[in-house]
Amino acid sequence: MILLHIIIIHFKMKIFKHKSALNKAIKNIQSVSFVPTMGALHKGHVSLIKKAKRKQGKTLVSVYVNPKQFDSKKDFDKYPRNLKKDLLTLKKLKVDYIYLPKYSDIFSFKVNKSIYLHKSSKLLCGKFRQGHFKGVLNIVNRFLEIIKPKFIFLGKKDFQQFFLIKKHIEKRKINSKIILCNTVREKNGIACSSRNKNLNSKQIKIASKVINIIKKEKKLLKQSKKKLNYIKIIKKLKNLSVKKIDYIKILNLKNLKEPKNLKNNFNIFIAFYIGNVRLIDNF
Ligand code: PAF
Repeated sequence: MILLHIIIIHFKMKIFKHKSALNKAIKNIQSVSFVPTMGALHKGHVSLIKKAKRKQGKTLVSVYVNPKQFDSKKDFDKYPRNLKKDLLTLKKLKVDYIYLPKYSDIFSFKVNKSIYLHKSSKLLCGKFRQGHFKGVLNIVNRFLEIIKPKFIFLGKKDFQQFFLIKKHIEKRKINSKIILCNTVREKNGIACSSRNKNLNSKQIKIASKVINIIKKEKKLLKQSKKKLNYIKIIKKLKNLSVKKIDYIKILNLKNLKEPKNLKNNFNIFIAFYIGNVRLIDNF
């Protein structure tokens, strides 16, 4: 324990607030494994970072709550933040570089490549959160230009985000490979998410029930290949006092289109509100 403590204390994690200094530090590094985050780190982030660390080269984590991807100032303001704790977590994980940009550092320069927004950005979360994916791609495109990572690590929970970043990288011929990582879940089934920090224990129980209903439906769909009974599911969720459901949709994971039959590689995608907290997931 003491030895571990000494190793952690002596590990030099470099923190950058300006892209010019970051560029200087990483310009001769062959392989950078990059994990973009908005902080309030949880087990899902830790799993992404551990995967990144298994690659050769250096690991870089960004922590920045990007205002451009929030469709309301209220949602941006109440997004959980805990930089002190995050830095401790990152130090324990022995991440080599941390990038903590300010708005002016990340948004003031002119990009070489414009954003490519695939048409599926209008679906699911894109339909309910105006400008969200444009904001995500704007910042990710900037990160890719500054960092030029060999690998970028993204989680399956935000599958639509992964899909759109992949389309952008392909279209703009960017030399970074996405490593898509499995969703990490709590014991009760809920996907780890920074937004879970805004739920109380009663709400967590409800969220867990919702997830288990959807999980069961996915199992049934796979077995019976019958259509999803949306009315039945929505009724069940309303009975759990789920305040609002933005969408429940079955989509093919290859193209984010509605599958012609249920033999394909599909998932059920859901976005719902418990109190004022919006949660998304897919199975
Ligand atoms: O998934 C997230 O946390 C954010 O959308 C990302 C990729 C860090 C961009 O701000």
